[in-house]
Amino acid sequence: MGVHVINNICIIGAGNMGHQIALSAAIAGFRVKCTDVNQEALQKAEQFVTTYLPERVAKGKLKQAEADSAKANLIFTTDLAEAAGDADLVIEAAIEKLEIKRQLFARLDLLCPPHTILATNSSYIVSSKIVDVTSRPEQVCNMHFFNPALVMKLVEVVKGPHTSDETTNALMEVCVRMGKTPVLLKQEIYGFLVNRMLAAIKNESIYLLDMGIAGYEDIDRAVTLALGHPMGPFRLMDLTGIDLTYHVGMERYQETGDPTYRPSPTIVEKFTKKEWGRKTGKGFYDYPTK
Ligand code: 3HC
Repeated sequence: MGVHVINNICIIGAGNMGHQIALSAAIAGFRVKCTDVNQEALQKAEQFVTTYLPERVAKGKLKQAEADSAKANLIFTTDLAEAAGDADLVIEAAIEKLEIKRQLFARLDLLCPPHTILATNSSYIVSSKIVDVTSRPEQVCNMHFFNPALVMKLVEVVKGPHTSDETTNALMEVCVRMGKTPVLLKQEIYGFLVNRMLAAIKNESIYLLDMGIAGYEDIDRAVTLALGHPMGPFRLMDLTGIDLTYHVGMERYQETGDPTYRPSPTIVEKFTKKEWGRKTGKGFYDYPTK
């Protein structure tokens, strides 16, 4: 439907991924509204922006005028209708639960103008599982960022069988305008490119830990020092959130019935104790608040 000129972006979810995608887009000059049902998450995100931007200026990574304009470009609101009402593009970065995403997309379809592209930043859920609740299948797509989204350059754009080339082209262009490097997946596949590879390393690492073969610090050392990864799988789970590892495993297990996807006892224990990594101050490692 029409040529996609994207100026206004709505980000759903102010959590780990959402607030950093929102800020990346605002720095790149898009007008951004970031929304969340959780007022506390929005306040935390707003607080992050007010410390992050001056730090970037002090480090010489941003000019004062660029920081000022990024701040002016970014609004936080709990009102979904206000956030989505004038969006050219919505990037949904809510919790990794299919039913919640389906409910959100159904509401977005009613709230957004007809030209709006509806993208999901889901780590695993392909847009085919969501698209039927909307009346605009050709404008529904996956757009998957990596954590921390302000730093990581890659974005996976995943074309569903319903997605038009016009939509994927528009999303690839948005990525470039945000200073990112997009890759196009021409077909949907569970876990896309990166999380499929990451899952293999993560699952093997948890297996080695659960078997008592080595401690998590040594497994992390092995992966950083022998494979050259910037951080090992346990530190990475702390960064991306052990709650995410848990939810993704449970969703997949419930969907397939395959017990190999069921979160391991270690992950279940950490999830239950709310030891979710950096966001709760403790995961495999400790993160004392500054
Ligand atoms: N938020 C914003 N910026 C951050 C950051 C954060 N949480 N952590 C680090 N940075 C920035 C720093 O400000 C610094 O910026 P600068 O160089 O422009 O000044 C830069 O990143 C480097 O930071 P540090 O020197 O403090 O630390 P490192 O060099 O160790 O880098 C790292 C930190 C970028 C997180 C690096 O360790 C890394 O790349 N880790 C791997 C991350 C990864 O694999 N991400 C993908 C996860 S999978 C995923 O996201 C999929 C999803 O579906 C779950």
